[in-house]
Amino acid sequence: MKTVLTNDPLEAAEYIKRGGIVAFPTETVYGLGANVFDEQAVAKIFEAKRRPADNPLIAHISEIEQIGELATKVTKNAGKFIRSFFPGPLTIVLPKSDAVPYIATAGLETIGVRMPRFELAQCFIAACGVPVVAPSANLSGRPSPTTWQAVAEDLDGRANCILQGDPTEIGLESTVVDCTGDIPLLLRQGAVSLAQLQAIVPETRNYEPITGELPKSPGLSHRHYSPVAEVIILDHKFEISNFKSGAAYIGVNERGERFQVTRICLSAEEYASAIFEFFRECDRRGIKTIYCETVEETGIGSALMDRLRRAAEG
Ligand code: TXA
Ligand code: MG
Repeated sequence: MKTVLTNDPLEAAEYIKRGGIVAFPTETVYGLGANVFDEQAVAKIFEAKRRPADNPLIAHISEIEQIGELATKVTKNAGKFIRSFFPGPLTIVLPKSDAVPYIATAGLETIGVRMPRFELAQCFIAACGVPVVAPSANLSGRPSPTTWQAVAEDLDGRANCILQGDPTEIGLESTVVDCTGDIPLLLRQGAVSLAQLQAIVPETRNYEPITGELPKSPGLSHRHYSPVAEVIILDHKFEISNFKSGAAYIGVNERGERFQVTRICLSAEEYASAIFEFFRECDRRGIKTIYCETVEETGIGSALMDRLRRAAEG
């Protein structure tokens, strides 16, 4: 398959209308999209990414009214979150409508819905004329792409089109909150923090999987966000034990050791937006060990630490 590169959202949308798959930028990470109602097109996403079939997809909209095509009802709490955070880096999980094929939700009776705030994403989705279901546009298990070049690295020859936009702003995937029950459950950390959700609905809490029960967010149990290199999380107060030369370092504080690749960030926000591309850059350079500084777990810091821990486990 030839992958067409374009910066024209209308041209990119034509591929969706013809049943193809298109990578596009959002404020979080790049997504790999298809028409949510076209089962064959959605199947192509799983194939292109080599994504396990038990990992559900998020439907992206450009108008609030489109939620009516995707979900049977908007619960009271969901309505409050939508008013506060749409468009933006928040995905809400709602009971799915019959029009949504099970392949998109990995067999679940629920659907994740998000309205990106990135203008190019909104133009693209509006031109598609349907909600666009999209996971992050990386090969399964690789760090999510934050530039169109990173998308091309993983999906050239595997997607019909890449909509070329700027590097993403936030750099970590959206916050996911289950709004199907009385108490909203935070399934995945992102730029919208638990504290921000609790400011709108105070009962909101972190989801703790109950042993023996099916996990609410199957994707979270899969290997994720991992560079080939080993990731070691490090507090800046501590010395590195058995320091290996040829290592890389990213954080907000300078360190005394000599690294082959170093990235000092000015803030936790900058660190979050740089981390996935830094992982990819280290892999391109054949780095074996990446030291990542810990950050305080407030605001974007919670989501960043979540991704760092997953990468360190991988
Ligand atoms: O920022 C983002 O969310 C990006 C951009 C492209 O929008 N998308 C993204 O998609 O990160 P993906 O597929 O890589 O991650 C989707 C996450 C997974 O952890 C999945 O399990 C969860 O959302 N999810 C999706 N639908 C769900 C549902 N119905 N119930 C529970 N979790 C769901
Ligand atoms: Mg992903």
